[in-house]
Amino acid sequence: MTADIKQQIISMVGPDLEQVEAALEENLSPNLELVREIASHLLFAGGKRLRPLLMIHAARMCGYATGEEILFSTIFEYLHAATLLHDDVVDGADMRRGKPAAHTRWDAPKVVLTGDFLLARALNVAARTGSPKVISVIARITQEMSQGEIDQLENKGRPDLTEDEYNRIIERKTAVLIQGACRSGAIVANAPEKKETALTDYGYHLGMAFQMADDLLDYTATAEELGKNPGADIREGKLTLPLIHSLANAGPADREWILSVIQDSEFDPDRFAGLRDKISDLGGIAYTEKRAVRHVETAIKALSAFEDSPSKTLLSLIADYSIQRKV
Ligand code: IPE
Ligand code: IPE
Ligand code: MG
Ligand code: MG
Repeated sequence: MTADIKQQIISMVGPDLEQVEAALEENLSPNLELVREIASHLLFAGGKRLRPLLMIHAARMCGYATGEEILFSTIFEYLHAATLLHDDVVDGADMRRGKPAAHTRWDAPKVVLTGDFLLARALNVAARTGSPKVISVIARITQEMSQGEIDQLENKGRPDLTEDEYNRIIERKTAVLIQGACRSGAIVANAPEKKETALTDYGYHLGMAFQMADDLLDYTATAEELGKNPGADIREGKLTLPLIHSLANAGPADREWILSVIQDSEFDPDRFAGLRDKISDLGGIAYTEKRAVRHVETAIKALSAFEDSPSKTLLSLIADYSIQRKV
């Protein structure tokens, strides 16, 4: 089933992906070789290109057909790549896209500044849309994402983080960017307000489901599948929904054991495996899946504002894929 959806999506976006790759390469244009090296290390390491694809097909679903959607879509991959470079420094993560994280190869200050460069590239392409509305969407994305990351950092290791607080964090750090990519597609296409709102809703709910799936995969997937190490969230002191829900459901003994595992400064793979089982037994996995499915359903419902088209089919498939994915 999952493989089918993935194959279906790939067969629909093959030519777009090629053009996006070329546009990312063409518009990177750094003046410094070191910046090119660091940016390319991450940028051309095989990301899914979800955000550019969303923008392209949101625009096409609204009737946009100038071909410039490819260029504009790079905004969202540059922005995403900038935040990944920063995120891996902040999280002390060791792997990204199946490769050593950039800051393990180059000094963190260089990586952070390369992230700033990628952000600047995103802004540069955003200016080329000539749309103040797109620029204000991007401004909001960068503002929200940085606050989401700071909020997460400030709450690091807090065992009493609530589901509402978690939702607020993932909305800012992940959903707002995915939402902005979809909404910008509607804006460049000059879509009527009703369609812009529908795409904004679709993007928000897809983004929430997407981050919940990422948080589930951190417990359920292997490093080979993910291209980054599972268990990273615990190591990074991140309490995500599977754990938040399990802690809320746990009796005193389970609770104490879970807290001892997450507060242990040494990461022990055997204890992590035990934690995985415990979270599954306490319903944390099933509950998170349920929340994610609900978001996917709402995302798909938002697409009913549109006539049938290949792009609409694709966006619907992407919503389903967001929670069935293994990477
Ligand atoms: C990773 O995003 C960061 C999250 C929001 C979970 P992706 O899973 O889209 O990463 P790439 O772009 O495919 O590497
Ligand atoms: C993803 O945060 C959102 C951003 C990159 C801003 P995570 O820290 O959960 O993402 P991964 O797991 O490192 O990809
Ligand atoms: Mg991270
Ligand atoms: Mg994660």
